[in-house]
Amino acid sequence: MEVIRVVGDPGGPGLRGEVTVPGAKNSALKLMAAALLAPGTTVLHDVPDILDVAIMAELLRRLGCTVDHTVDGHHVVIEVPEEVGHRADYELVRAMRASISVLGPLLARVGEVDVAVPGGDAIGSRGLDLHAEGLRALGAEVQVAHGYLLARAPRGLEGTTVPLAFPSVGATENLLMAAVLARGTTVLVNVAREPEIVDLAAMLTAMGARIAGAGTSTITVEGVARLHPVEHRVVPDRIVAGTFLYAAAATGGDVHVRGARADHLTMVVDKLEAAGAAVLETGEGLQVLGPVAPLRPAAVDVATLPYPGFPTDLQPFALVLGSVADGSAVVTENLFETRFRFVHEVARLGADVRVEGHHVLVRGRPVLSGAPVQAPDIRAGAALVVAGLVAEGVTEVSGVSHVDRGYEAFVPQLVALGADVRRVEVASAGLPL
Ligand code: UD1
Repeated sequence: MEVIRVVGDPGGPGLRGEVTVPGAKNSALKLMAAALLAPGTTVLHDVPDILDVAIMAELLRRLGCTVDHTVDGHHVVIEVPEEVGHRADYELVRAMRASISVLGPLLARVGEVDVAVPGGDAIGSRGLDLHAEGLRALGAEVQVAHGYLLARAPRGLEGTTVPLAFPSVGATENLLMAAVLARGTTVLVNVAREPEIVDLAAMLTAMGARIAGAGTSTITVEGVARLHPVEHRVVPDRIVAGTFLYAAAATGGDVHVRGARADHLTMVVDKLEAAGAAVLETGEGLQVLGPVAPLRPAAVDVATLPYPGFPTDLQPFALVLGSVADGSAVVTENLFETRFRFVHEVARLGADVRVEGHHVLVRGRPVLSGAPVQAPDIRAGAALVVAGLVAEGVTEVSGVSHVDRGYEAFVPQLVALGADVRRVEVASAGLPL
């Protein structure tokens, strides 16, 4: 079994140096799906070299595309044929929920699509109801049978007003990608406003789509008959950027996070500053200086909300910072019901945490205490590594594949910042079943 072994250095110099943020996973995956909308060659730059991108590439290949992600890890070239398939198998959807992003583009392009229903994952039982209701409003017949969501629109989609009950990121993206080829005008109301949606709309617009309002809560789309492929650069990953900002703040370090955009991290920067870190805009990114020992971070309440609120994907890092803060804070998770599985793992590192419904009361301690822990999901995995940096002794984080799904070269990047972190093979417990 492979683990990430962290030798903590609480009170040490902290992470120092600079890192460069890659393109956003949560944008790149959707842009790859959007390529399906136009036959021909789409080229994406700054695509992160991570497992989830490889899964999306495999899905596109099974739909008949040629995907080249090997020339150099950060460019992806997708050849989309005139005729594409229409099925996303359970095998791939189970490996990566974002596989459902082919729903909108395939329905618009092919008129039919079968996508496996994802089921629960480590952070919650995310439904597809908003996706399905939105597509129905656009004139599709949608039903669920044998574990698949089957959507049909043999005569094409018809623009209309589609209100979302909740600003779901995935539903907004699927409906946007469906609406660009629908007849007439679609008005998507109460949509998600994440920078990744703005990035998707920018690429679709370059492809010939007519979109207004991306980044606000109402998006208007004038359908067009055909789109053409383009070359596009992926927006920087604000969650990876936030990961390094928190890691620097927690360790009392000094890190220049190149590519971090202050305008995409407003709430995160506010919370870091409230915790006593200094965050400076450098023109090329953000530099963060954490409170240096014997000072400790201040305890800060954090509540996750859809963008521009505090991102749920950074909640585990806020919790780690709180667990070594001077004082008590409440961390509230408003998006995913089971994201707190991670809390029990930080507790193994000695954090004083108590879950009450969707709140966690965190009472800060001067240091954590290294132990073996299990990563339940991508962000929790990275946050446990950060926790290991401020824990005395050795922390071994298993479930490494979760970290690989979303972080490119996470361990080497931390090593370059001065951390004592390695990937090592350890014998698994070998207990009888
Ligand atoms: C995306 C991100 C994920 C991030 C999340 C929220 C990707 C690949 N993943 O996930 O990293 O944490 O946004 O910022 O981009 N919901 C429903 N019905 C639906 C759809 C969603 O009830 O049809 C609920 C979910 O259960 C959840 C909430 O809406 O409670 C938010 O989900 P959503 O915004 O759709 O997140 P994802 O697009 O899955």
